[in-house]
Amino acid sequence: MLKLQIPSYFKARRQALMKAHQGASFIFPSPSVVLRNPDVPHPFRQESHFYYLSGFDEENSCLVLAHDPKASHGFRSFLFVQPRDPSKELWDGERYGVDRAASIFSVDEAAPIETLWERLPEILKFTNEVYYSLGKDEANDQKLISVLGKLQKSKGRSGLGQRAVKDPMEPVGEMRVIKKSEELEILKKACEATAQSHLQAMKQVRPGMNEFEVQALIEYEFKKNGCQRTGYGSIVAGGKNACCLHYVSNNEPLKDGDLLLIDAGGEMDYYTSDITRTFPVGKSMSKEQKELYEIVLAANEQAISIVKPGLPYSAIHRKAQEVLAQGLKDLGLLEGSVEEIIEDRTKLFRYFPHGTGHFLGMDVHDVGLYKIEGKSRVLEPGMVFTIEPGLYAQPTDQHCPEKYRGIGIRIEDNILVTESGFQVLTSDVPKAIEEIERLR
Ligand code: GLY
Ligand code: MN
Ligand code: MN
Repeated sequence: MLKLQIPSYFKARRQALMKAHQGASFIFPSPSVVLRNPDVPHPFRQESHFYYLSGFDEENSCLVLAHDPKASHGFRSFLFVQPRDPSKELWDGERYGVDRAASIFSVDEAAPIETLWERLPEILKFTNEVYYSLGKDEANDQKLISVLGKLQKSKGRSGLGQRAVKDPMEPVGEMRVIKKSEELEILKKACEATAQSHLQAMKQVRPGMNEFEVQALIEYEFKKNGCQRTGYGSIVAGGKNACCLHYVSNNEPLKDGDLLLIDAGGEMDYYTSDITRTFPVGKSMSKEQKELYEIVLAANEQAISIVKPGLPYSAIHRKAQEVLAQGLKDLGLLEGSVEEIIEDRTKLFRYFPHGTGHFLGMDVHDVGLYKIEGKSRVLEPGMVFTIEPGLYAQPTDQHCPEKYRGIGIRIEDNILVTESGFQVLTSDVPKAIEEIERLR
């Protein structure tokens, strides 16, 4: 269904971006449609920067924000779109078309996508630097190089050189990393919907179900709770499959006595949640499963507890590593000081080979710099990230006592930094063993 009106914040974002980058122009082409069969495309999703700055979600389109000293706010905005075409729309659905795109999305001009590259030299004539993401689409890259060549020629004997091409990731990423109230409203709903879906899975999974059946169950719940799609490929990993960090085959039957790790997030209006829970396929956990689970849970809870504005982001990973290292040492799985266990790649890294989290928003591994001038950036209100410690005793790890081998556990929550500390956006889905076992 087409949107007839969109919120004014999309336009405000364009103005804020262009105010901060005077003299620059931005080009955001939509991703090309990828075919899975000769005439069957993979589902299309608009590129996140493009959507963040426009709300426009049709394929075969391009958003251009062009510096123009004579225009109001110093720039002109263009949407290049697919024109109306009844013979195509009969098959693929209604399009906005040129006229409606201009009015609904409040751009200065909309034009047919076929005219993009021939119009660009004129549109970019006042531009000092071009923000465009090279390397995603070679055909577009070549066309841009040709546009830059034409612009260079038009400078004649001015002595001026070629315009610089820069990646929009940093300027737009730094806007997106601090979530505004309108974004948090959506993101919180995505987290609540995802939490409810995990809760249903926790209640309904039974031994003998296939991993893909559980995947269907949780993805059905996402949609039932208002998410249009998943934010990434759902990981539904029974038993030792949980030791594969991004397991996506999801095609084995679940066995009583094993744990099940589900890492899945629903995407609502372009914002995704990212929750992991690990629970028994049967009614309860074994002694060894509980021992490792309690360590991961402590790491998750203690890492969350230190979140507040001003904390260096890296302190969260360090806290999780310390709790995991101490836990494995107490259990007799690793030896040495906590410091040594963390630093020696043959020790903690064997059980915990990933980071403790990532920014979260429109992309599951969202934009935003983690380091600024070589140092970990400090937390600010409005940042959202995951905290997701885990322990994975690889089935083939000869150094690990056999009774633990094949156990994989991750517990992942989504955290908002607030003025006074933090808010856990995913607290509706239980993680304490007693609560989980009650649900099973
Ligand atoms: N679901 C991918 C991740 O947790 O990073
Ligand atoms: Mn994650
Ligand atoms: Mn995840």
